Amino acid sequence: MTEPLLTKDDVLKAYRVLKTVVNQTPLQRDNYLSDKYNANIYLKREDLQIVRSFKIRGAYYAMTQLEQVVLERGVVCASAGNHAQGVAYTAFQLKCMAHIFMPVTTPNQKISQVKYFGGEFVKVHLVGDNFDECSLRAHEYGTENDLHFIEPFDDLDVIAGQGSLAVEIHQDLVAEGVNPDIVLAPVGGGGLISGISSYIKPVMPETKIIGVESVGAPSMKESLDKGEIVKLEEMDTFSDGTAVARVGELTYQIAKQNVNEIITVEEGLACSKILDMYTRQAIIVEPSGALSVAALDKLGDISGKTIVCIISGGNNDINRLAEIEERALIYEGRRHYFVVNFPQRAGALREFVTDILGPGDDITVFQYTKKSNQSSGPLVVGVDLGKIENLDGLLERLSVFDPSYISINENSTLFNLLV
Ligand SMILES: Cc1ncc(COP(=O)(O)O)c(C=O)c1O
Repeated sequence: MTEPLLTKDDVLKAYRVLKTVVNQTPLQRDNYLSDKYNANIYLKREDLQIVRSFKIRGAYYAMTQLEQVVLERGVVCASAGNHAQGVAYTAFQLKCMAHIFMPVTTPNQKISQVKYFGGEFVKVHLVGDNFDECSLRAHEYGTENDLHFIEPFDDLDVIAGQGSLAVEIHQDLVAEGVNPDIVLAPVGGGGLISGISSYIKPVMPETKIIGVESVGAPSMKESLDKGEIVKLEEMDTFSDGTAVARVGELTYQIAKQNVNEIITVEEGLACSKILDMYTRQAIIVEPSGALSVAALDKLGDISGKTIVCIISGGNNDINRLAEIEERALIYEGRRHYFVVNFPQRAGALREFVTDILGPGDDITVFQYTKKSNQSSGPLVVGVDLGKIENLDGLLERLSVFDPSYISINENSTLFNLLV
């Protein structure tokens, strides 16, 4: 057996440093999910962490491991999200200057959160149209100015810091006399899963460690399947915390040794869980934070099992709610968009509404401009079904109305253009 890159004692050391600094977040048995899956489902609530995500753990621990002279010169990082907030918060606590590079497209709300946590100890640099450009510039800036770069995931101290939450999970479960069958953790660059697995594997050897990625950004799954690190050429960045094109070298090696399986979940399923958790459990999660709960649907029969889901973050921008609802409704098969050729004569709209729609079906979008000198013109229509079972009837009636109608849900190019 090869020596682990990170031992449980390394993680324990990080835990002891962080213990008095970060929130020891609750591990809660969730009654709603436990009843739903006839299992024992626990949630590790990192949405209740300072900066509302676990990323403070790795950033803080890594920065405390730097020599004083290095800290005094200042640090640099590149992030448009939770890592930036973790570094900013730590900079303020340790009174060291942090240069935080964010792409120019970063929403103001995120920039102001970083400034809020870092105060006078943060300088935000808005550089590059995308994350890769921004990160490149941040690295150059670090080299030019002799500043230490705080990695978002591929650094043993960062990984150990993230792993500290597994120590808390273990302590809380031991106190309840429970041994988990499975721990589910979201995976981006792999810092979180490699940190927690470095502790769980030796301490709870019976527990399966399962990573969760979104279908649109499966970088760890593809790498482990291929046996080497794969860089994704394209990805869906919707689950922004976990949308990473290339996992780390260290995190890949650790995941290869410790992780039992990586499963992927559709972005729409994660959205559906975000809304469900908000409505039923009053928990606000961001897309990456919902992946572990979404994965419960993918595990097959889990009745009687004890499962821990890591809710990794709760920084959900309110402006994204409309898109989240949209994706959830489409995933659940309740919202449909069509292009229909529409006859240009008086009364046609009334016919469409009375003849085509089923009971309880509701029009959510209707885009039509009357064209002169043509007998028909295209219409974009969005329909929310009253009941999922209404779909077959709706499609049948539509194909009589216009045999060449197009279903936009099934055409990603049209979908991105029109919806
Ligand atoms: C909320 C959230 N979940 C999960 C992740 C993935 O963590 P890692 O990159 O360590 O795999 C991140 C990373 O930023 C995150 O912000």
